[in-house]
Amino acid sequence: MTLHLSNSPQDIAKAAELLQQGELVSFATETVYGLGGNARDDQAVAGIFEAKGRPRFNPLIVHFPDRQAAAQEVLFSPMALELAEAFWPGPLTLVLPRREDSRISLLCSAGLDTLAVRVPAPETARTLLRMADCPVAAPSANRAGKISPTRAEHVMDELSRRIAAVLDDGACTIGVESTVVSLADERPSLLRPGGLAREELENLLGAPLELPVADSPVASPGMLRSHYAPQAILRLNATSVGAEEAYLAFGSEPEDKGKACFNLSPAGDLREAAANLFAALRELDRSGISMIAVAPIPDTGLGQAINDRLQRAAAPRVT
Ligand code: TXA
Ligand code: MG
Repeated sequence: MTLHLSNSPQDIAKAAELLQQGELVSFATETVYGLGGNARDDQAVAGIFEAKGRPRFNPLIVHFPDRQAAAQEVLFSPMALELAEAFWPGPLTLVLPRREDSRISLLCSAGLDTLAVRVPAPETARTLLRMADCPVAAPSANRAGKISPTRAEHVMDELSRRIAAVLDDGACTIGVESTVVSLADERPSLLRPGGLAREELENLLGAPLELPVADSPVASPGMLRSHYAPQAILRLNATSVGAEEAYLAFGSEPEDKGKACFNLSPAGDLREAAANLFAALRELDRSGISMIAVAPIPDTGLGQAINDRLQRAAAPRVT
């Protein structure tokens, strides 16, 4: 049975103990819930891939309580330091060269000579990471290709019996995964748009971020075209709704709302929309509707991460 732990000090200590014992524990970050395991323990890391049904070529993000702990495992260039100082703890993942003396399981890097590292913001997560006293590998706590979880109940729905515990810290405040930036090459590149807006990164860097070559398997192995997929088929940029469709609205709603309607943000606020996105897709899916029409979402700020996830959710399914 999977334990449903609260965020009390005793329960956080219990979760830390389970991680030390090589068990898998899901915990909340400000972006989505992660499926955590001791990153130094090959068996624990292999267990993460298994519980998720994730292909082994897709590397994992390793989580730390602070930058100093991350610096034991990867090499920080001056630019990496600058980004970490500006945005950690927060929704930014940095892909950096692995240190030769790093004892992180090679499975986390999936054959690459880099490691993705991140310091999540919530106090509960950082207390857990400090108490576990080991780097924690954690992909989003969903089955591969499915919608990422933003509440403990979502994790329970999909992974119960596959993991030891879920540490419930409430709903994730940001709701889309971290922005992934690679600093492994000469120029910084954006591997995944996410919870930290691209504009904020570019303002600090004073230059545009490179975009990886589309679908290059090496640059960003996890960016599969079909991902975050609900059962229902999605129709994007829809300004009207068919009688058989549900509507995922943003801002104002059309008069005819189809079979069901969920508004990501009646006020047209992209942060609010990001926080609601995955829960909304789950809810519309649960209602058994087979087609979801999705309102156009502006492609600025967090809108880029929202549109990225929607395009993957709408893509032809790989089974
Ligand atoms: O917000 C998040 O980032 C959440 C929370 C739990 O931290 N985690 C998450 O992990 O979204 P995951 O495994 O679902 O996505 C990690 C992404 C994938 O696209 C993966 O391919 C990429 O990061 N990645 C990981 N390590 C990499 C590496 N060494 N080089 C390039 N891409 C890497
Ligand atoms: Mg994921």
